[in-house]
Amino acid sequence: MSSTAGQVINCKAAVAWSAKSPLSIETIQVAPPRAHEVRVKILYTAVCHTDAYTLDGHDPEGLFPVVLGHEGSGVVESVGEGVTGFSVGDHVVPLYVPQCKECDYCLNPKTNLCQKIRVTQGNGYLPDGTSRFTCNGKQLFHFMGCSTFSEYTVVADISLCKVNPTAPLEKVSLLGCGISTGYGAVLNTCKVEQGSTVAVWGLGAVGLAVIMGAKAAGAKRIIGIDLIESKFSSAKFFGATECINPKSIQLAEGKSFQAWLVDNFDGGFDYTFECIGNVHTMCESANTECQHYPDSPKIGITCSRAKFSYDAHLFHRALLLLFYLSCRAVFAYPRCKPIYETPPTALLYFL
Ligand SMILES: NC(=O)c1ccc[n+]([C@@H]2O[C@H](COP(=O)([O-])OP(=O)(O)OC[C@H]3O[C@@H](n4cnc5c(N)ncnc54)[C@H](O)[C@@H]3O)[C@@H](O)[C@H]2O)c1
Ligand SMILES: [Zn+2]
Ligand SMILES: [Zn+2]
Repeated sequence: MSSTAGQVINCKAAVAWSAKSPLSIETIQVAPPRAHEVRVKILYTAVCHTDAYTLDGHDPEGLFPVVLGHEGSGVVESVGEGVTGFSVGDHVVPLYVPQCKECDYCLNPKTNLCQKIRVTQGNGYLPDGTSRFTCNGKQLFHFMGCSTFSEYTVVADISLCKVNPTAPLEKVSLLGCGISTGYGAVLNTCKVEQGSTVAVWGLGAVGLAVIMGAKAAGAKRIIGIDLIESKFSSAKFFGATECINPKSIQLAEGKSFQAWLVDNFDGGFDYTFECIGNVHTMCESANTECQHYPDSPKIGITCSRAKFSYDAHLFHRALLLLFYLSCRAVFAYPRCKPIYETPPTALLYFL
């Protein structure tokens, strides 16, 4: 048992007091874990665009004050009553999509979106409807069931995945969201076939992971699209065969970039992935799917709160909202070993 077990821990955290204001480093109090909860000493945390999206006030359901962060890794400091799957010292990654292994969703092979604690998690609380965080006497909300921007956090035991203790924690922290979302979208959701053409809008963490997945799937052409050309070298490192900056294309009078892509890529792509979260590029990616193979193309988008228009002739296509590895983390992470063990370690690129 650790010396802090059962006690409130004072530690540093980056607190978001309100939307659109900078994070503030504060000393916060982290209460001990209750039944079926685990307190984790966070050793590494990464930043996903969704943290910035919430902090910038774009998420209408964003709650403040809050401890943001949902990509991290650490070691178990103590466990609450009834926790059987974790022990002090275990190396773990928090999961913003839990895996209870018993709800209808967990038992359905078509989805990974466990619903067991969705409501309380969405309300910024742990499953019993309360928070373990306070700062200056004020309660802080939890974020996505993880809150990794803190030296210590408390999560539900179903929102945690054990990783091999030999796995480098600074790298596995990156499996918590963006990389898993992109890589899993290609291999698990879309099941991209060998020899496909794949176009990727946005070369941030999610887009690069899509490229990594497309290469692993054996795609013959992988086109990276971004406005920032300094991103192109990383995209090529991961497997992009060519990169395009839409702003540098000389378009004929009245022609759109979308039309240019269709004209220059043999009628469009087998698979397109929108990894920006921008309605305009979502339409662009949906409408540059190859129109000649109605059965195979799929369009992946990575942002949920968006409405966009979709050309009527594309209605028979599969439009997929890609979410978090598209498989079950507790089962999948042990299989992620090749991603972080293959030298030169690709994940290092994301650090
Ligand atoms: N569904 C999920 O589970 C999930 C998980 C992680 C992230 N996301 C979402 O995925 C999106 C990407 O996340 P990220 O962390 O990789 O973001 P990021 O900010 O690191 O990368 C976005 C990239 O898009 C580029 N870009 C921006 N506008 C562009 C435009 N008009 N045309 C071309 N390129 C443009 C930027 O230059 C940048 O390289 C975000 O919307 C994020 O919220 C969803
Ligand atoms: Zn479940
Ligand atoms: Zn994320």
